[in-house]
Amino acid sequence: MSASLIKDVKKTFIEKFKSKPLLIFSPGRINIIGEHTDYNDGFVFPAAIDKGIAAAIQKSASSSCTAVALDLDSTIKFELDKIKPSKEGSWENYVLGVVAEIQNKNKVVGNFNIVFKGNIPGGAGMSSSAALENSVVFGLNELFELKLTKEEMILISQKAEHNYVGVNCGIMDQYASMFGKKEHALHLDCRNNEAKPYKIDFKDHQLILINTNVKHSLSDSAYNDRRAACESISKLLNIKALRDATEADLKKVIDKVPPSNYQKALFVIQENSRTLKAAKAIEDNDLKKLGALIYQSHQGLSNQYKVSCDELDFLVNQTKKNKHVLGARMMGGGFGGCTINLIAKSEAKAFIETVSKVYKNKFNKACSTYLIKLEKGTHIVK
Ligand code: GLA
Repeated sequence: MSASLIKDVKKTFIEKFKSKPLLIFSPGRINIIGEHTDYNDGFVFPAAIDKGIAAAIQKSASSSCTAVALDLDSTIKFELDKIKPSKEGSWENYVLGVVAEIQNKNKVVGNFNIVFKGNIPGGAGMSSSAALENSVVFGLNELFELKLTKEEMILISQKAEHNYVGVNCGIMDQYASMFGKKEHALHLDCRNNEAKPYKIDFKDHQLILINTNVKHSLSDSAYNDRRAACESISKLLNIKALRDATEADLKKVIDKVPPSNYQKALFVIQENSRTLKAAKAIEDNDLKKLGALIYQSHQGLSNQYKVSCDELDFLVNQTKKNKHVLGARMMGGGFGGCTINLIAKSEAKAFIETVSKVYKNKFNKACSTYLIKLEKGTHIVK
């Protein structure tokens, strides 16, 4: 699948710019558990996948840069000394933001052209945005010998998201996309960005994604609001981040915070602890336990953190009727996108058929399913 993406961007690049590009593949990610914990300095458990963004990039002799989003059939030209955010919600901000944040580090990039194309639908909660940002910073680092470390590159991608896209995201997506490891998930401590890789082989079980194919508006502002709520409670507790709080600590300020925010902070504390327990469950090969934690995560995301939606809740509820599914939950920021499901391999096909039918009946639109492979992070394609 990624081979055909690479072929497409290469072909278009050569036709358009008459030079040989550097080719990069930058993956999207899944997350087994640990949602909305990253910006609370907590733990997450993501993995890079075999879907993402392919980019063809090369220096340009012209006096401006050109970026082509092949899927959208959309092209922009820009000048390096006049970079500013484009209109809200446009793909351009991912590219412009990365260039601007590189410049903010006093690193000098020259004019360049880029063509990119992806096979993750936007809004699926599989981080096509981090994949794109990483492909741009990785390519520019290589072409202009910027000598950025991978750690510096993901911080640039994250800042692009904050300052150009307008989402105050954590580091999970950029980290997973850049540092992914074949057949492994990364148990990442978002306080120091250190990860322990876990080989993921669930034997007769597997992870599948089901995409609601919806993305509700306001998801960006709702995300930023939640982050702000978490930070205000940390301040009240006089700690650096909610990662440092226990449920007992939180109880001490119960009278000082609105009940809805109290529930959100409680969710973060509990989700962080579930993420630690999930690593242990995987070490112990205890898939029942892992599945139960995944279900609890959804419960919390839906009822306490309030980032789910009818479509996601429906898909998770359907799995509860099938004893071959050990756990299911919404994945990523929320308000649409995918659920991640831990299911017996032998039952996956039948389950997908059933769930597709009932989803169509209920919402009058189709859901999509993805079988995914865990792959390495952002890299050059020879
Ligand atoms: C989005 C953000 C991540 C993370 C998740 C929720 O994907 O980009 O940083 O906060 O939501 O876990």
